[in-house]
Amino acid sequence: MIRFEQTFMNFLLQHQEKHNRTYHFLILMDAMINAARHIQHYYLTGALKGNLGLSGAVNVQDEDVMQMDQIAQEITIHYLKSSGRVIHAVSEESDEIIQINPEGGRYFVYFDPLDGSSNIPHGLPVGFMFGIAKRNLDGPEDGHLRPGKDYIAAGMFVIPTGTFTLGLKEAGTWRFHIDETMTFVRPTRMVLPEDTKTWELSFNASNRYTYAERVQKWIMENESKYAFRYLGALAGDFHRVLTNGGMFMYPAIVNHPNPKKNRPEGKLRLMYEGAVVAFMCREAGGTAVNEEGIPILDIQPSKHHQRTALYVGSKKLVEDVATVLRKKG
Ligand code: AHG
Ligand code: MN
Ligand code: MN
Repeated sequence: MIRFEQTFMNFLLQHQEKHNRTYHFLILMDAMINAARHIQHYYLTGALKGNLGLSGAVNVQDEDVMQMDQIAQEITIHYLKSSGRVIHAVSEESDEIIQINPEGGRYFVYFDPLDGSSNIPHGLPVGFMFGIAKRNLDGPEDGHLRPGKDYIAAGMFVIPTGTFTLGLKEAGTWRFHIDETMTFVRPTRMVLPEDTKTWELSFNASNRYTYAERVQKWIMENESKYAFRYLGALAGDFHRVLTNGGMFMYPAIVNHPNPKKNRPEGKLRLMYEGAVVAFMCREAGGTAVNEEGIPILDIQPSKHHQRTALYVGSKKLVEDVATVLRKKG
């Protein structure tokens, strides 16, 4: 007997029917899946084809652009266009908002086509992350700058591991695995474990003395209780936290010996990194806050590449550090 797995598309089709929803979202998700499969293919063959190096370009944020950043961007834009369902998109790889289908589109897509670029030369895990919001169909459209709480879905592919995690508004966070036919299958609901035994802490330890004093103190008092893991790719690090519990954090950098290297706003991008993991985390029973202890999902972005500090993971742990963050000084 052949053992058949439920496919992602079948899962989503049933989900939409159960909630009396349209098929537009399915068409958009089909585009995202096709993009992820192509990015996965280019990444897997990247070392052999010479695609894992620098592109030679530098982006507006003064970061070196890798070839894979450009390949993943081109692939994603292609599929978003072919879906016909997207108004416009915000991408880490494009300074400007990308017009896709302003008249006929229904969704805004915020994405990072290849997150965790420092892993690229090694072929180690990177992410393709995205958040989706819907056009206001009942009144005047107020634009794409939506807080995470207004997303209808947010997800991430961990490439080339072949996992896909998707948070659906008020319907949980689900994980899928890629099979031998490159189909994502076997929906598994993700719920952050209450038991602290498996909890992990994840942050760039080389930055710890650049954090605010109160954050440094919190780390000193708490770090020995948990295992420490850091991959340097948010999608991969958050993937672990979602399974094992604990917290990923990228605090504000305010005490760097070279003040020019301070990042008081944080490093990660709100719309296509921070809010994406915060959304999945909420749907899995967790939470996320910024450097002021404000819920990430409540932050109204004022610009599309806005940065944020990020503390995301198990509710108790994030709430504990949030109490410290909310104290002034
Ligand atoms: P990107 O590669 O898209 O620029 O983002 C990398 C991000 C994120 O994935 C990761 O968690 C973090 O930056 C790592 O930063 P450090 O190298 O400073 O630890
Ligand atoms: Mn990124
Ligand atoms: Mn990126």
